[in-house]
Formats: sequence, C-alpha cells, structure tokens
Amino acid sequence: MHFYLAHLAPPPRRGLDNPEVQRGERLFNEAGCTQCHRPHLSTGQHPLYPLLSARQIEPYSDLLLHDMGPGLADGRDDYLATGREWRTPPLWGLGLIERINPGAGYLHDGRARTLEEAVLWHGGEGAVARERFKALLAEDRRALRAFLRSL
Ligand code: HEC
Repeated sequence: MHFYLAHLAPPPRRGLDNPEVQRGERLFNEAGCTQCHRPHLSTGQHPLYPLLSARQIEPYSDLLLHDMGPGLADGRDDYLATGREWRTPPLWGLGLIERINPGAGYLHDGRARTLEEAVLWHGGEGAVARERFKALLAEDRRALRAFLRSL
C-alpha cells in the first residue's frame, strides 16, 4: 500500500499552450507567489524507493512552514509549528479540486470557497504577495486564476 501511494504521479497540467494560462504564470512569478509556492524542487535520497530519488518535481511548494498571520492562526501549537504557522501546500492538482470534490474549499480548514478567497486570506509572510494580487487588474486576476486551474 505504501509503495503504491508513494508512486502515484501528480495529475498532469492542462492548458499549457493557452496564452491566458501562460500570462497567469508570469503574474504568479511577478506577484512573488513563487517565494513559497516554488515551481521546481528536486528530491533527495529516498530511503526505500530509488525511483523517487533525485527527481525533478513541480510541486509549487517549498514544503516549509510560514507564519501566515493572525487571520489564519488557530492558536494551537503542533509539534514544532506554532499556531500561526502553516506548511505551504503543494498546488499540483489544485485545478481539479472543483471537479473532484466540489464544496471542499481551500486552505487548512476549507474556509476559502474560491481560489481568490484563498489568496486573500494570506497574511503574515504572505501579506506582500496578497497585496500585489489585490492590485492586479480584473483581467490579470482572471489569468492568474486560469493558471491556478491549470495545475
Ligand atoms: C509566505 C509564503 C506564501 C506566499 C508568498 C504565498 N503563499 Fe499561498 N499559501 C501559503 C501557505 C502556508 C498556504 C496554506 C495556508 C493555510 O492552509 O491556512 C497557502 C495556500 C494557498 C492556496 C490554497 C491551496 C489549497 O490547497 O488550499 C492557494 C490557492 C495559494 N496559496 C495561492 C497563492 C498565490 C496565488 C500567491 C501569490 C499571490 C501565494 N499563494 C503566495 C504560503 C504562501
């Protein structure tokens, strides 16, 4: 079971040749989203499965904890994470959530009903990127959403 789950591939991207998606990805970089949602990582040595070692992956995450401000805090420490810290979730597969699990919501407790709401909840270390997102023109926000949906 462990072997099977560890070797499941992330869902393939969609709409890669769509100019709106491409523009959205540029805006995602420019707004500083990639500071935490890092497009590229390489895996280390996997202790059990050599096939998973030294692989280039596109998780759109740094897999690290960040202080996301009081709005997202639940005030509960969790091992080394304080009640304000959350791990950057990988964004691969994000665009399929609407279809596979409509109504599931986004963020750690599902409070965000839309992708835009999820971004607007970013505070703390994510506040600068949130403000850049808010300053985008409506059509640029649409492009950024199209990019997120392509993941
Ligand atoms: C300082 C690091 C940081 C930056 C910068 C950042 N994020 Fe996030 N992002 C996070 C963390 C941490 C979470 C999870 C928060 C939670 O679950 O409460 C998150 C969650 C999300 C989610 C919800 C994912 C899900 O599966 O529920 C989306 C969408 C998202 N970010 C998009 C963006 C966009 C777009 C930008 C740029 C405007 C951005 N983020 C900038 C750290 C960051």
